[in-house]
Amino acid sequence: MKILIIGSGGREHAIAWACAKNPRVEKIWCAPGNAGIAGIAECVPIGAMEFERLAAFAKENAVDLTIVGMDDPLVGGIVDIFKSEGLRVFGPDKKAAVLEGSKAFSKDLMKKYDIPTAEYHIARTPEEAMEIFAHTGYPVVLKADGLALGKGVLICEDAYSAREGVRELMEDKKFGSAGDQVVIEEFLTGREISVLSFVDGKTVKTMASAMDHKRAGDGDTGLNTGGMGNFSPSPFYTPEIDAYCREHIYQRTVDAMAAEGRPFTGVIFFGLILTEKGPKVLEYNARFGDPEAQVVLPRMKTDLVDVIEACVDGKLDEIPLEFSEDACLCVVLASDGYPVKYEKGFPISGLETFEGKTDELVFHAGTAFDGDGNIVTNGGRVLAVTALAPTLQEARSKAYAAAERVTFANKYMRHDIGHAIDEA
Ligand code: AMP
Ligand code: GLY
Repeated sequence: MKILIIGSGGREHAIAWACAKNPRVEKIWCAPGNAGIAGIAECVPIGAMEFERLAAFAKENAVDLTIVGMDDPLVGGIVDIFKSEGLRVFGPDKKAAVLEGSKAFSKDLMKKYDIPTAEYHIARTPEEAMEIFAHTGYPVVLKADGLALGKGVLICEDAYSAREGVRELMEDKKFGSAGDQVVIEEFLTGREISVLSFVDGKTVKTMASAMDHKRAGDGDTGLNTGGMGNFSPSPFYTPEIDAYCREHIYQRTVDAMAAEGRPFTGVIFFGLILTEKGPKVLEYNARFGDPEAQVVLPRMKTDLVDVIEACVDGKLDEIPLEFSEDACLCVVLASDGYPVKYEKGFPISGLETFEGKTDELVFHAGTAFDGDGNIVTNGGRVLAVTALAPTLQEARSKAYAAAERVTFANKYMRHDIGHAIDEA
């Protein structure tokens, strides 16, 4: 079986690593991939948004299954193009990917189908936004409707910052057309939990829970990032919470999408917050999380390719989904200055210390080869150093010890990934 993976981050490295474990898989390509992915897959220099070229590549090389890791191509309709060419592809089509692609759509869906989420209003003009602020308390949350690299959410403490936020998103168009509409939302407090799930259009099966660390600095300070570390499972995701979410959130979302004529096949990432009034949905993503994939996939006992094929064939109900009892924690090694401004191109050493290990893994996010074939830094998030162990505490110690073995000139990491474990 031949597989093509679309994307170039740590998530796609984890997906490729999991696919490579399947004995039926004879060849993996990744477009465009990175230096770590090149260790298991052949990297193809085609960008993730070049749908026609990617589909032509898949046809020419008789690719049996394409897995789309990233949100942009999904929201842009890559799955529709592949399907129209008769190619087997895993991910939601454009109609379904709107679940992530438009926050206004997802909020309206949740309201219509009684899925717990924050109270909200949608503003289509700056004037409408100001009108809404006149009736809301602070802090208030302002969200660009469309994709904004995870940076389109502003928490505004007062009327002044709300006004500035509207200017940034709707007038200055900091995120382009993503800010044509904004969602203005009630500020919620509570612990956040990431629950990823496989969906085949009608059945949903959740993966193990995870906990992200979105802020750049220790103590959850600084700017929002794509994620500086993660662990799985979350000790706060109790069986009671799971039962509640099964009843009120997961299946209801999948049924709602089908009822709207937008059946969803792929991964739904439920971004949850545990409030005093129960779990609520903060956001949906239409793909694996990054770095959630790096801690959830290493724990998955069921074969990833088998599950993905079951989703594509609408037979997810026939396959049991099992996870190991081991805990997993990953620390992201980033370039100092991420997510704003950073240098790249620095040689990385210590990667060989992971060779042959099954409980200490290093997934590459932003790496490349220099002219001499050495691996160098090539992005804000560079590596996700991941460890598996019987407990979260042990996984954390192991991941941090392993993170020390890797060096590059402007290495930056948080030192408190997993701090919540001690509060559980
Ligand atoms: P989102 O992209 O919608 O998940 O938002 C990114 C982050 O902003 C979330 O992970 C939360 O930390 C925060 N956030 C989003 N919505 C709210 C809300 N209604 N109340 C409090 N924090 C929020
Ligand atoms: N780590 C959060 C995300 O992938 O959206």
